Amino acid sequence: MVANDTYLFDPQVIQNLDWSLVGKDCDLKLSEKGLKLRPLRIDDFDHGHLDVLSQLSVVGTISRKDYEERFQLMKSSQLMRIIILEDLNTNQVAASATLLFEPKFTHECAWVGHVQDVVVDGKYRGQGLGKALVLCLKLLVLHQGAYKMDLDCADDKISFYKSLGFTQESGRANYLTCRFEKKNQNLTVL
Ligand SMILES: CC(C)(COP(=O)(O)OP(=O)(O)OC[C@H]1O[C@@H](n2cnc3c(N)ncnc32)[C@H](O)[C@@H]1OP(=O)(O)O)[C@@H](O)C(=O)NCCC(=O)NCCS
Repeated sequence: MVANDTYLFDPQVIQNLDWSLVGKDCDLKLSEKGLKLRPLRIDDFDHGHLDVLSQLSVVGTISRKDYEERFQLMKSSQLMRIIILEDLNTNQVAASATLLFEPKFTHECAWVGHVQDVVVDGKYRGQGLGKALVLCLKLLVLHQGAYKMDLDCADDKISFYKSLGFTQESGRANYLTCRFEKKNQNLTVL
C-alpha cells in the first residue's frame, strides 16, 4: 500500500473520472494491457520517469534530491497534474503527461489547462497509450471546471492532437518563444 501523500495529487481524482464523457473506453483497455493510470509519485525517480522524459527532451543530470525537491515544489503549488501510465508487470513508468492549471481573473476567475510533456516510452508506442493520456488530461480539465485547454506541438504531431479534439484556431496558430542560453545569466531587458 502506497501512502497517499507520496502522490503529486489525490489518486482518487483519477479513479473517479467519468470516461464516458470523452466517449472512449480507454481506461478499460489500459487495465487489459496491465497498465495503470495514476498521479506521479515521489518514488518515480526509481521507476524510470526521467528515462521516459528524456525521450521527449533533454533532462540532464538530476539527483534524487533535485527530483524530490522539484516534486515537493510542484505538489505545494497544487496546480500541477502529472499523470503516469505504470506497467504493473515491471512497476516502470511507461508514459507521462503534464497538465498545468492557470488560475485567471478573466472569464470570471476561470481556469485554463496547459498540456505539456506528453511522452510514451518507445516500447509502448502505437498501442493507444498517448491517446489515453491526453484524454485523461481532458477529463481532469473538465473536472477542474476549466473553460479550455491548450498545447503547442511539432507539426508532425498536429494530426495526433486533432484526432483528440484539439483545433488550430484561425489567426491564432502561432507559437512564439524567447529562449535563453544559460540559467541565471545577467539579462539585458529590451
Ligand atoms: C506522440 C506520442 C505521445 C504518441 O503516443 P502513442 O502512444 O504512440 O500514440 P497512440 O498509439 O495513442 O496513437 C493515437 C492515434 O494517434 C496517431 N499517432 C500517433 N503518433 C502520431 C504522430 N507522431 N503523428 C500523427 N499521428 C500519430 C496514431 O496513429 C493513432 O491513430 P488512430 O487512433 O487512428 O489509430 C508518442 O509518439 C511520443 O511519445 N513521441 C515522442 C514524444 C513527443 O513527441 N511527444 C509529443 C509532444 S507534443
